[in-house]
Amino acid sequence: MCGIVGYIGKRNAYPILIKGLKRLEYRGYDSAGIALLNSKNELNVYKTKGKVSNLEHFAKDKDCNGTIGIAHTRWATHGEPNQINAHPHYSESKNIALIHNGIIENYADLKENLTRKGIHFQSNTDTEVIVQLIEYLLQKNDTDLLTAVQLALSHVVGAYAIAVIDRNNPDVIVAARKSSPLVVGIGDDEFFIASDASPIVEYTKKMVFIDNEEVAYIKRGEELKIVNLNNVEIKPEIEEVMLDIGQLEKGGYEHFMLKEIFEQPACIENCMKGRVNIAHDSIKLSALIDFHDKLVGAKRIIILACGTSWHSGMIGKYLFETYCKIPVEVEYASEFRYRSNVVGENDVVIAVSQSGETADTLAAVELAKEKGAFVYGICNSVGSSIPRATHTGSYIHVGPEIGVASTKAFSGQVTVLVMLALALAKSKNAISDKDYFEIIAELAKIPEKMKKVLQMNEKIADLAKIFTYAHNFIYLGRGYCFPVALEGALKLKEISYIHAEGYPAAEMKHGPIALIDDEMPVVVIATQNALYEKVVSNMQEVKARKGRIIALISEGDEKIKDIANFCIEVPQTLECLEPLITTIPLQLLAYHIAVCKGKNVDQPRNLAKSVTVE
Ligand code: G6P
Repeated sequence: MCGIVGYIGKRNAYPILIKGLKRLEYRGYDSAGIALLNSKNELNVYKTKGKVSNLEHFAKDKDCNGTIGIAHTRWATHGEPNQINAHPHYSESKNIALIHNGIIENYADLKENLTRKGIHFQSNTDTEVIVQLIEYLLQKNDTDLLTAVQLALSHVVGAYAIAVIDRNNPDVIVAARKSSPLVVGIGDDEFFIASDASPIVEYTKKMVFIDNEEVAYIKRGEELKIVNLNNVEIKPEIEEVMLDIGQLEKGGYEHFMLKEIFEQPACIENCMKGRVNIAHDSIKLSALIDFHDKLVGAKRIIILACGTSWHSGMIGKYLFETYCKIPVEVEYASEFRYRSNVVGENDVVIAVSQSGETADTLAAVELAKEKGAFVYGICNSVGSSIPRATHTGSYIHVGPEIGVASTKAFSGQVTVLVMLALALAKSKNAISDKDYFEIIAELAKIPEKMKKVLQMNEKIADLAKIFTYAHNFIYLGRGYCFPVALEGALKLKEISYIHAEGYPAAEMKHGPIALIDDEMPVVVIATQNALYEKVVSNMQEVKARKGRIIALISEGDEKIKDIANFCIEVPQTLECLEPLITTIPLQLLAYHIAVCKGKNVDQPRNLAKSVTVE
């Protein structure tokens, strides 16, 4: 949550910071602020409630000069989203300004101590204690800014990515991280800092990903210096980050979410590129080659994830158990990390995360590693914390996902899980050649089939108009399509704020059936697979109670057309690949309902794309 950005160089910082904040707005958007140090050595801080555009409006007639500055877009944790609680926060003397992404767990104790020493706090945030502590230590120890930051951070318990500027050090930004992401971009006599590469990449491809408990000392005219909290110098590892700027724009679509839904066929092709070889009927994943024995020897797989990634993890379970004959548990990372779990050396843990920064998933990865498990990451964001923390893994390569509701990342995750399950099954001799070759051939056809599904966009938009004012929805599916039902319900909740529940279709009888009446829309994934007849029976149970059925059916299925009120036809595919096809109409349905309701599709209330607090 929260996006941070900073600049020091020869240019005016303001436009770079505002543009950067807009790129990071997916991380939080309840308030925003900026601090600029101008040539008269004045430290100006402007903050507003709401989106970055409000800040821009507010700063229009203010002094926005300065070649050094830091800026922040917030997702509130401590203290309501208002102007006072927005970052940057000043120190008592107003000489220092600081931005922060993360949570300071011991802030109450620190605040009490500092208050007793006569320091006055302005906000209700946890963040303000860091800047007050830095200034207090700076004065008390008569030391320099870097040392004061190091000292302050050694008192802090929690997660942080911070950036600090100081009127008494007008050519310096000090930035540091622990558990929250931070990247430094190295330009020509200029530096950028940000929560991820997106605000930086149009200025430089050279980036340094700061590691836990490292502090970046960024001084105009000098090389980037990185030290740890004990002041031991660490050589910066400069990486070339390739990111197509076009992927960060809406490209003619009304919303990022719609663009990302439509990108799915191309994303899947990209994800399979160099991995699925149709000519040779084979799948190659470098992680499986490099760590063959570890993966093939797994006695159990534990999949850890949150949100949409947890749903793709569920599909992974069905795949690994069916084709690799390895028992699989899928667990919410937040639950796993706080219970007395039994994990050991024979377990392979798979962490699934679009952002690669989700705090609970990252902590669960660390825990599993400590207990001796081998950890495999399936992530999208290149260079993010989870891929760096895991032993190996596979990127999904679907490009930056900006819409807060995840869409193309889900398809990428499922595609990687399919490839991994097939490759592992083959290595273990657990899959028949028939199944192996058939699935590979069908996987290659998925992008074309996805395109066919996307052609139904208009029809689904019309359907959405009928259900715009529904108060509840039920989604039903079985087998591989049960997680699809969960994902369909989640999409609707996230962006339209309609209460929706996903259920295994047969489980409906054990409770949710009581909710069904003639006002309840029930979305049923009823494609022609092994469980088709069972799902049809479940649908009859809904019909008998006058539920309004929207059925996702296989092309040409006439039988269900007689039962359901509305049908969406999708091309047939193999059962294990159905989630790649059947999720798309549900994404579109949620999207169009949210648009009809006039909701902010890309930035739904209360949500953030990258949940870097637990
Ligand atoms: C947030 C996002 C969801 C996402 C979940 C897990 O809740 O809004 O879209 O599924 O985090 O995120 P991850 O980046 O770990 O996949």
